[in-house]
Amino acid sequence: MKLFDVYPINDIVVTRAKGSYLWDEAGQQYLDMYGGHAVISIGHTHPHFVSRITSQLNQLAFYSNSVRIPLQQELADKLGKVSGKEDYQLFLCNSGAEANENALKLASFHTGRKKIIAFSKSFHGRTSLAVAATDNPALIAPVNQTDHVVFLPFNDEAALSDYFTAHGKEVAAVIIEGIQGVGGINIAQDAFQQKIRSLCTEYQSVFIADSVQCGYGRTGLFFSHDHAGVQADIYSMAKGMGNGFPVAGILIAPFLKAKHGMLGTTFGGNHLACAAALAVLEIIEEEKLMKNAKTMGEFLMSRLKKIEGLQNIRGKGLMIGFDVEGELRDLRKNLLNHQHVFTGEAKPNTIRLLPSMALRKKEAEEFLESIEEEINNMVSSPKMVHPA
Ligand SMILES: Cc1ncc(COP(=O)(O)O)c(C=O)c1O
Repeated sequence: MKLFDVYPINDIVVTRAKGSYLWDEAGQQYLDMYGGHAVISIGHTHPHFVSRITSQLNQLAFYSNSVRIPLQQELADKLGKVSGKEDYQLFLCNSGAEANENALKLASFHTGRKKIIAFSKSFHGRTSLAVAATDNPALIAPVNQTDHVVFLPFNDEAALSDYFTAHGKEVAAVIIEGIQGVGGINIAQDAFQQKIRSLCTEYQSVFIADSVQCGYGRTGLFFSHDHAGVQADIYSMAKGMGNGFPVAGILIAPFLKAKHGMLGTTFGGNHLACAAALAVLEIIEEEKLMKNAKTMGEFLMSRLKKIEGLQNIRGKGLMIGFDVEGELRDLRKNLLNHQHVFTGEAKPNTIRLLPSMALRKKEAEEFLESIEEEINNMVSSPKMVHPA
């Protein structure tokens, strides 16, 4: 049987990983500044993560949500403490798209309304409503096309106010990433998020903070939306939550009331997933990884700004983007193939850095040396081909 060929892949087989490093089958070492797409939050194969999952696996991997699962309450308590949202409620699921799908559905159940406001360059996942709220027509199948989702320009307060003035009573939810990831590391301005908060409160619409990529401590605060000083009504979480173990969830404000059968999933909140998510939070707390993400992010940004050829350096904590043009267009590919450094991309020309929050200073310095060396190679190579 052939694999369904939907991913453009690098011809590398990763067989082993530790901390911020990966190794391929030939033993070649790679520095991981990509975290498998912002997923590796505490570092690869952290011993506490491995042992907590292993011991849970030896006890009980799964039983369904038809029985009480005390690990879910333990996770909810820990998450409330680490995120500072102790009065919120937790619903557990399996992926970012599913988290957003449930968030949007819950907003519609609660308000009895159908309109969703999303923003230009947003990415919220690939399930039916999440993809309909994603600003990329190529991803939206005909069956997912809907008039219920309206796209407004990102960071445009006037356009948002005008829409609410005209249609506010129809709006179930506004969904926004605190920092757009797939869209190219675009930061939602504080004033814009505050405007969303006040309009959602005024019109009794639900403010959904998509924190799937920008959340879970990566920006130095638990949710990137916290930088704007706003409280969303629902936070969706996924990528960093299980450090690679598939687990996701939504944090739900107290005024949103649950009803039996309203939401549900077979695998969500299973014993193994809870053990993985608890291990991640324990390590984030124990090793003060949010503080490290802030410090390492500031260090990287300040040094990247000094490197000639890198443009529009932006981001928060360890969610950083910059643009490359002209002769540096292939920088990302060359970093991988020549310097053995994984980074992420956003079309057309943004390089994204999403390393583990446990990135160490010497690893950040190693990355900076690699990028400088590669830029020197790329800029000077034509001179070597055609010596004067
Ligand atoms: C902001 C955001 N929301 C949702 C998703 C979808 O998550 P998943 O791929 O786990 O369904 C992603 C994935 O990249 C994302 O970046």
